[in-house]
Amino acid sequence: TTSANNQGTAIAHTNIALVKYWGKIDSELTLPYTGSLSLTLDKFYTETKVTFNEELSADKLVVDGIPQDNVNKAKKVLNRVRQLSGIESFAKVESANFVPTSAGFASSASAFAAMAAASASAAGLQLSSKDLSRLARLGSGSASRSVFGGFVEWLPGTDDESSYAYPLEDVVLTDIFVLAVNISSKKKQVSSGEGMKRSASTSPYYADWQKVVAEDLINIKHALKTDDFSLLGQIAEANAMRMHSLTLSSLPPFTYFEPGTLKVIKLVQDLRSHGVECYYTIDAGPNVKVLVQSNNLEAVKTALSEQFGATKISEAKPGPEIELLDN
Ligand code: PMV
Repeated sequence: TTSANNQGTAIAHTNIALVKYWGKIDSELTLPYTGSLSLTLDKFYTETKVTFNEELSADKLVVDGIPQDNVNKAKKVLNRVRQLSGIESFAKVESANFVPTSAGFASSASAFAAMAAASASAAGLQLSSKDLSRLARLGSGSASRSVFGGFVEWLPGTDDESSYAYPLEDVVLTDIFVLAVNISSKKKQVSSGEGMKRSASTSPYYADWQKVVAEDLINIKHALKTDDFSLLGQIAEANAMRMHSLTLSSLPPFTYFEPGTLKVIKLVQDLRSHGVECYYTIDAGPNVKVLVQSNNLEAVKTALSEQFGATKISEAKPGPEIELLDN
């Protein structure tokens, strides 16, 4: 799609990592130490419009109607698009998050994937999805995965060219739901960028983490190919706890957990001991995502709602790849 009016609009869905990305070798290019694997979700997405305009005197970013002061990450994406297209003007980026405020999802993955697709379209660039993934990665690592739907692996690579995500193809496992439990919507004190840097540079366990991820990636892909939900859940849960143990073992130590986070962990363990199979995973924040299949969905939803209130729980399933909208 070439854009006659220097404008492009795209939608991207958020994703939850089952094998986490936690640490950058190169923060300028967002090159990770390890691969990672996620599930794109259907419910939560960002819609972004990008307009290159010669009358602008700087790049402008407006999120949910609020002009943003910090445009550094957006600039990394826009600068690359200008470099590829030869466009010299600044851009206005208008972004709307369709993530229920109760869901407690970080929106950077969907935001930068949508921005990458919208700005490439606005510039008249015809990028492959691999190149869109590389472009989104410059804004936020997890965004490289939100270019695609379903289960997605981000190959760490060794340079800008070789670090991108792709959708897993031989997946048999399709019966999976994610129940997001919102513990707090407050902005986190340690950003994911700062948290990664501290973990990779000060946790004595960081070298072991890299080995863990390599094994988890192999095993979770096996679980996806053989429709083994139990294996997938066990790997996702242990991988999340090992990521969070890097924060606890950093200097100075920190944690994203809050008391409510531990309550969900305990409830999931309790449900499991009563034969209701479900697993939890947690990103760089206090909110918990519970993985469950259709046979146990209602039981887990009811248990979570009783303890945390129905308004704190939102339900999602596998979601689609990015979509370009007509202007
Ligand atoms: O893409 P970032 O910089 O927001 O980092 C994401 C980090 C985690 O969500 C904790 C893990 C992941 O792989 O998404």
